[in-house]
Amino acid sequence: MDKLVINGGNTLKGSVNISGAKNAAVAILPAAILADGVCRIENLPNISDVSIMIEILYHLGAGVKVINKSTIEIDPTHINTNTFPSELARSMRASYYFIGALLGRNHSANVTMPGGCDFGVRPIDQHIKGFEALGAKWNMEYGMLSFNADELLGNSVYFDTVSVGATVNVILAAVKAKGLTVIENAAREPHIVDLANFLNTIGANIMGAGTDVIKIRGVSELSGGTYSIIPDQIEAGTYMAAVAAAGGDVTIKNVIPKHLESITAKLEEMGVEVYELDDAVRIVRNKRLTKTKVKTQPHPGFPTDMQPQIAAVLATAEGTSIVAENVWDNRFKYIDELRRMGADIQVDGKIAIIEGVEKLQGAPVKAVDLRAGAAMIVAGLGAEGKTEIDDIHHIERGYEDIVEKLTMIGADIKRVQMPDDFISSKAV
Ligand code: EPU
Repeated sequence: MDKLVINGGNTLKGSVNISGAKNAAVAILPAAILADGVCRIENLPNISDVSIMIEILYHLGAGVKVINKSTIEIDPTHINTNTFPSELARSMRASYYFIGALLGRNHSANVTMPGGCDFGVRPIDQHIKGFEALGAKWNMEYGMLSFNADELLGNSVYFDTVSVGATVNVILAAVKAKGLTVIENAAREPHIVDLANFLNTIGANIMGAGTDVIKIRGVSELSGGTYSIIPDQIEAGTYMAAVAAAGGDVTIKNVIPKHLESITAKLEEMGVEVYELDDAVRIVRNKRLTKTKVKTQPHPGFPTDMQPQIAAVLATAEGTSIVAENVWDNRFKYIDELRRMGADIQVDGKIAIIEGVEKLQGAPVKAVDLRAGAAMIVAGLGAEGKTEIDDIHHIERGYEDIVEKLTMIGADIKRVQMPDDFISSKAV
């Protein structure tokens, strides 16, 4: 029942540090079970999705030593099972990376169908196509997916759709398969490159990550090693959007500016000043923004995971903006929440048409999913008056210390705990 309460209207000033990338962390933690020694993973974001991944590692029998808030050591040598509780699998999408990792390690995996944000149908046909190409047989019974292979053999895999998840899963299964695996039409996101860099650090032979053809020559052993996760592109982009919505002058530190280029380009088109530094970007917004067109695409296109936040900024940009969602079938559920704040937005299939209003007004809203929740924060920071955001567990899946970080740059935002008797007294 906790809420975020924002009193909008403060301009933002100062600097904020970006944490490690969620979507890299949730691929690298399962990848560590492929190692034959201890892996030390640094720059892990302190978010609930990472905690769930660590819990799954415990359930599999891995030794996990917490070194500090952002560093753990994983000793996979005593893993003794191919399965983990279904509640953990269902609580996040990336739990299915343990299929690729367990197949790669033990040639066998039994994992419940994963959960995750609700963007309409989320098929896994391309993952299965990849596993089958490597020689795995599978079946599904009562929601449990079982994969088995006598041995995994490298092969060519052509994906019909560019899929981050399928690319990660096939890399994980192929790293220790015999021979050469070639993935064509692979995803090129920074987290795919980070996963490949981690695996290569511990002895894998992966070439071409970051392009659409990835070649994996199977190795029989992977050592342990130390690896530091890249900064989170989407967390950085969300703070860029927050400054664009609220106004101000903020330096966003510990980023890779190249990963932010598609976001930077759109903000600049709207009138935001973006200065690229070595490992930081400075964002200045001191006038009303203007309309633009945004089309989400796989990397290096504009990321779908920034679509709700940019729409929240465009809600008050002068003129008519168009946002086209090209990755997910149904990622506009949050628009109803923005409308509660006075946004003028029409949705037609995968297109949102936004007529910029002068100001949004604070209102009670909810986080319908992770990035939708981030968009409510962005909108609330720029709005007049009080915004109360419900269902904030979605936000906590992906943003470390978001209240503290925003408070440091001048936002008026609080996490408010609602007493239990408040719920029952309201229910009468
Ligand atoms: N698709 C298929 N078949 C498959 C797999 C995917 O048709 O077997 C389709 C999907 O339905 C979708 C498209 O391919 O239309 C792209 O899906 P993808 O597999 O790339 O998405 P994902 O791996 O499930 C990851 C991120 C998402 C992000 C998408 C797109 C992680 C853990 N999740 O999801 O991140 O939206 O890529 O970039 O990496 C988030 O962080 O908020 C988030 C949802």
